[in-house]
Amino acid sequence: MTDTQTQPLKLVVTGGAGYVGSVCAARLVEAGHDVTVLDDLSTGHADAVHPGARFIEGDAAETAETLLAEGFDGVLHFAAKSLVGESMQDPAKYWQGNVVTSLRLLDAMRTHGTPRLVFSSTAATYGEPESSPIPESAPTRPTNTYGATKLAIDHAITSYALAHGLAAVSLRYFNVAGAYGDLGERHATETHLIPLVLQTATGQREHISIFGEDYPTEDGTAIRDYIHVADLADAHLLALRHAAEGEHKIYNLGSGTGFSVRQVIEACRQATGHPIPAVVSPRRAGDPAVLVAASDRAREELGWKPERTDLIGIVTDAWNFTQARASK
Ligand code: UFG
Repeated sequence: MTDTQTQPLKLVVTGGAGYVGSVCAARLVEAGHDVTVLDDLSTGHADAVHPGARFIEGDAAETAETLLAEGFDGVLHFAAKSLVGESMQDPAKYWQGNVVTSLRLLDAMRTHGTPRLVFSSTAATYGEPESSPIPESAPTRPTNTYGATKLAIDHAITSYALAHGLAAVSLRYFNVAGAYGDLGERHATETHLIPLVLQTATGQREHISIFGEDYPTEDGTAIRDYIHVADLADAHLLALRHAAEGEHKIYNLGSGTGFSVRQVIEACRQATGHPIPAVVSPRRAGDPAVLVAASDRAREELGWKPERTDLIGIVTDAWNFTQARASK
């Protein structure tokens, strides 16, 4: 393998036109790597691809099978279906789109001898936690199809690493938030808390619904671990360097601090100066009360340290992005 400590790497970024993938591709280009973004634009945006990256519009599996023949040092695999609710309504879309696609990608990597993989996994692989914060050793009992498909892919990656020498790292994201300059969250179907709260501030929505105020938490609303997308991207660059032949390493990525839905809304009020009306509504099915990461392993082994942990700072970046998009 190329010496990852010093050499620029030739990399494929699947899903590099999506939210997390585009930020990661941008940071990789800025770090001097040779980046090819592969995205079918089913949910991503062509204008989110960094101008310094080569862009190929295509399916992560089909196109990778021919693309990888060119010879690459690694793949960062972000392309996925990622709506929890939709995964329960239309599981085939998730088993096909996530698992089958990833298996084909793994096989293409094996065929063409692509040595390393960094995979976007999720806290949803753990399901309802027994204790908090959640370490990587916690039981993996996903409560939704999305989490189940990501866990299945993690298992496949472990097998490929052991049998075929793949150097693999799975990064289990908690709640990704914020923006990196003009790269941020813009989903056609938005379900995530912070963008929805900010849509209330721009007047696109009349109020934000608080899904449940009867959780066993201080203010009764659910607690999540919000991690800035740029900090998350940094972990991918570190993971590339720490991937080791024949090993599949798994790391949780979160700030380790939980914020309640009400705290998030309040931070958005401060960042935007908008009153942001909130209305309490019933719990959303399948939402655990508290999801906070123990990310000591990533800190110790990767030397990762999230820098942008201030909640108001995180939502301010998202707000600047939202306002810039609104004026386009
Ligand atoms: N929420 C509201 N109102 C809304 C939207 C969300 O109260 O309008 C609440 C949710 O009930 C939850 C919290 O805000 O308690 C965060 O919800 P998000 O939808 O923003 O994020 P989730 O925690 O549900 O899910 C995220 C990712 C998943 C991942 C999961 C793992 O979107 O892909 O984190 O932690 F699996």
